Amino acid sequence: MAITGIKGFNDILPGEVEKWQHIEATARRVFELYGLSEIRIPILEKTELFCRSIGDATDIVEKEMYSFEDKGGNKVTMRPEGTASVMRAYVEHKMHALDPVARLYYMGPMFRYERPQKGRYRQFHQIGAEITGVAAPTVDAQVLTMLTHFFQELGLTEPSLQINSLGCPCCRPAYREALKKFLLDRIDKLCDDCKRRYDTNPLRALDCKSAGCQEATQGAPSMLDHLCAECSDHFDKTRKHLELVGTPYSINQRMVRGLDYYTRTTFEMVTTMLGAQSAVAAGGRYDGLISSIGGPQIPGIGFAMGVERVALLLAEKDFSRRPDLFIAALGDEAHPEAFRLMSALQRLGFAVEIDYEGKSLKSQMRRADKFNSRFTLIIGGDELARGTAPLKNMDGGTQDEVALDAASIQAAMTGGA
Ligand code: HAM
Repeated sequence: MAITGIKGFNDILPGEVEKWQHIEATARRVFELYGLSEIRIPILEKTELFCRSIGDATDIVEKEMYSFEDKGGNKVTMRPEGTASVMRAYVEHKMHALDPVARLYYMGPMFRYERPQKGRYRQFHQIGAEITGVAAPTVDAQVLTMLTHFFQELGLTEPSLQINSLGCPCCRPAYREALKKFLLDRIDKLCDDCKRRYDTNPLRALDCKSAGCQEATQGAPSMLDHLCAECSDHFDKTRKHLELVGTPYSINQRMVRGLDYYTRTTFEMVTTMLGAQSAVAAGGRYDGLISSIGGPQIPGIGFAMGVERVALLLAEKDFSRRPDLFIAALGDEAHPEAFRLMSALQRLGFAVEIDYEGKSLKSQMRRADKFNSRFTLIIGGDELARGTAPLKNMDGGTQDEVALDAASIQAAMTGGA
């Protein structure tokens, strides 16, 4: 029996991969406009890194991590996200020593043992961005504007930006208590998960999808009404800066993120087009994360998008590439000539295809059709004898007689002299 891949681990095949390359190239192009540089981080980290940063009481750490002991007995985990690793690298390499401001992006696979469904996989891919060293709300607005800019560059009108504030260690404890007090009378309605985390993580009930939790949290107190003066000011200024540059957003007071490191601004890019998996990108500020993993007290903010989900939103668009030229060759002498011209034109920067096995003209034209090349050139004995051949423009239907040398064919294809 043939061996198949592992459930939740997908192959990205040619045809689809062009879309991924377009998403990645767009991210690089847009992020670099905002001064970000790429960082590449390992897939395996010490398990402790994620326990300390994401939080022991989160779904990710409790249930979803691919953790194991390596052959040396070390507890390691396949990264479930990138932020913790990027901050570990930032601290380890003392990137803050000269300038605490680092503007970084990354892309690559992440691993979570979740129940696979459309838009949710066990190996999935994120493109993420992190900016450290700026506490000012201007940078919150900058990060959100960059993310919006990225989706605009992809030509997507979905997803839309939702923002919230989760406060800080000053104001969140009082809010937690107010929420717990509110939920206590309704605790029977909560789902088992939310009952279990009533003490450790009561905020999760606010964005729990279960009908009971949604009912129980109707009219619950809002974090935004409990923000301390500094957090409230930060949120107002973030909003003002978003409005200043015309970045559209709405406020979602129920947004609670599934990772513990967030403070103040949190956000999600949401869509209604992917069923239950509504978040295409998500992130927030994490002013205590760097110090929690042993670094200095330096603030940070960032996001990650799920590339599979972005690709699903782009499903209708065609990213397949067309070769520039297909050369059909008839007869034993024409084949080496087609091969020679192909090679010369490839070196000049053209994508060229031939039929390697010298099949009939009919089957070669079928291949030309399949490749959907912009031009075709047909070479037989007569063409070789006169040193020219017909070059057909497959879009315009026009035909030119061109000399059988790469420079002439190049000139004809580019409209040059
Ligand atoms: P997250 O919300 O856990 O945040 O994930 C960010 C995005 O990754 C989600 O919005 C979703 O698009 C995608 N994603 C997550 N899990 C899966 C999955 N199982 N299958 C497919 N896509 C998935 C973080 O990971 C934070 N590190 C984001 C961040 C960066 N916050 C600050 N900086």
